Amino acid sequence: MTSSYARPVRWLHWLLALLLLAQFAFGFWLSEVPRNTPERGLFINLHKTFGLLIGSLILLRIFFRLKSLAPPLPLPGWQKYLAKASHFVLYFLMLLMPLSGYLAANFSKHGVKFFNRFVLPAWGPDDKFFYTIFNQTHKVAALLMLSFIALHLLAAAGHGLRRDGIFSRISLRPF
Ligand code: HEM
Ligand code: HEM
Repeated sequence: MTSSYARPVRWLHWLLALLLLAQFAFGFWLSEVPRNTPERGLFINLHKTFGLLIGSLILLRIFFRLKSLAPPLPLPGWQKYLAKASHFVLYFLMLLMPLSGYLAANFSKHGVKFFNRFVLPAWGPDDKFFYTIFNQTHKVAALLMLSFIALHLLAAAGHGLRRDGIFSRISLRPF
């Protein structure tokens, strides 16, 4: 019987927590950069580049999570159900964020310039309607995901205060 998540799952949880929070800050900061300037293009493409790299790490995380057994949750029924449901929503939003950004980029003439060097040409038409749908999805999903992260942090703080062992399931240990 396992008592904590597999090592790659634990490491990827904390690496992605850091990267995702930085990517959120970067995304919101983009609105400060004046439109129709070369700088905006540079920063937007960096945001897209990091977003695609983070998206790949998210896929890797999901792969490791599906490959290994999760330790059984030592919580009463309703808490277990809420924890599982909120984790599922977090995974769904972790996929939706990079996917909606990527789709929006491919329904605009800009596509993605990886690290501002390698052009990944858009494979979709330059279509305002689809661009707006995916771009709005990206924005709404960002707010939704931040709300779920806030709930997740509250729950984590609660478990930490109660010292009920939940933290040690995901904490980093060298071995
Ligand atoms: C962007 C930020 C974060 C995201 C997207 C995220 C997402 C997740 C997900 C999806 C799980 C479930 C793991 C699984 O069952 O596969 C999880 C577990 C956990 N997270 Fe986070 N997390 C984030 C940040 C944090 C932070 C900052 C803390 C602590 C301060 C934290 C504490 C925990 C704990 C204690 C667990 C273990 C819960 C359990 O044992 O089932 N997370 N996280
Ligand atoms: C983990 C991945 C990602 C996160 C957490 C993230 C987060 C964000 C956030 C918080 C914003 C600001 C939203 C707002 O102003 O309301 C934003 C904007 C943006 N994101 Fe992302 N993003 C991610 C991936 C991507 C990817 C992969 C692309 C494209 C390939 C992308 C393209 C954009 C663009 C173009 C904007 C500016 C939208 C505008 O101002 O109209 N993002 N992102």
